[in-house]
Amino acid sequence: MKVIEDMQHWRDVRRKIGGDVGFVPTMGALHKGHASLLHCSVENNDVSVMSIYVNPTQFNDPADLQNYPSTMKQDLQLAESIGVDYVILPSDHDIYPDGFRYQVIENEFSRQLCGVNRAGHFTGVLTVVMKLLNMVKPRRAYFGKKDYQQYVLIKDMCAAFCMDVEIVGCETVRERDGLAMSSRNKLLSEPARAVAHKFKQALSCAPAKISADQTLADQKMADQLVADRLAAYGFQVDYVETRKHRRFGAIVVEGRNGQVRLIDNVELESKVIGGDQ
Ligand code: PAF
Repeated sequence: MKVIEDMQHWRDVRRKIGGDVGFVPTMGALHKGHASLLHCSVENNDVSVMSIYVNPTQFNDPADLQNYPSTMKQDLQLAESIGVDYVILPSDHDIYPDGFRYQVIENEFSRQLCGVNRAGHFTGVLTVVMKLLNMVKPRRAYFGKKDYQQYVLIKDMCAAFCMDVEIVGCETVRERDGLAMSSRNKLLSEPARAVAHKFKQALSCAPAKISADQTLADQKMADQLVADRLAAYGFQVDYVETRKHRRFGAIVVEGRNGQVRLIDNVELESKVIGGDQ
């Protein structure tokens, strides 16, 4: 496995790579969720590339950026053990030579769910992903469905800009107790980690199977029931909402170093009438 920090050198290397390239963009602090994306890439492509870049423009809270975990040595070991061929480590200057003057902005779905209380977050994500895809020129790029809103926005961006890349969504990988794998789990305090699995439990507690005659009002009631249950567990609820046949949630819990925001989503079994806005 080659680790490349010099992006000019990477461009030279990339020109010589033949066959299908699979790409997994990450911000490091890898966990089993990332490992499953890397496995998919290695199994389905001739060459696999992973990037590690903690993208400052997608953090709307400076403390969140400051506390973001970094485990570079273990990350490189994991990537190599899975069979990744190249890891690229771009710098802020490589990614933002323009000082973030040019941005990719989506005006609908990015303003819902996580976009409501995280202004600019998805502009940061879409802009960095567009740049990374331009640098790596993969045939396929892999994203986890834990961040389902991000996955949909990236897929739609690539279609909107006629980009020749397949965006592959991979299922959420969970801890044994059901908590979705996330780099942020490392930041949870012990008591917060002990109850964090109740997040997924609560998201699945209201009727997941939706009958054909269920109305949007029924759906909102079910979302409210989940939000109430989360609040009763002591979580600070950011939102619980149904979109695109999924129930999405975001909560804020106590971390070792300040508050930690967790997101998750569960698939509902059939289409909610009027609920797909
Ligand atoms: O999901 C992430 O880790 C990040 O949002 C991504 C896609 C690597 C962009 O910085």
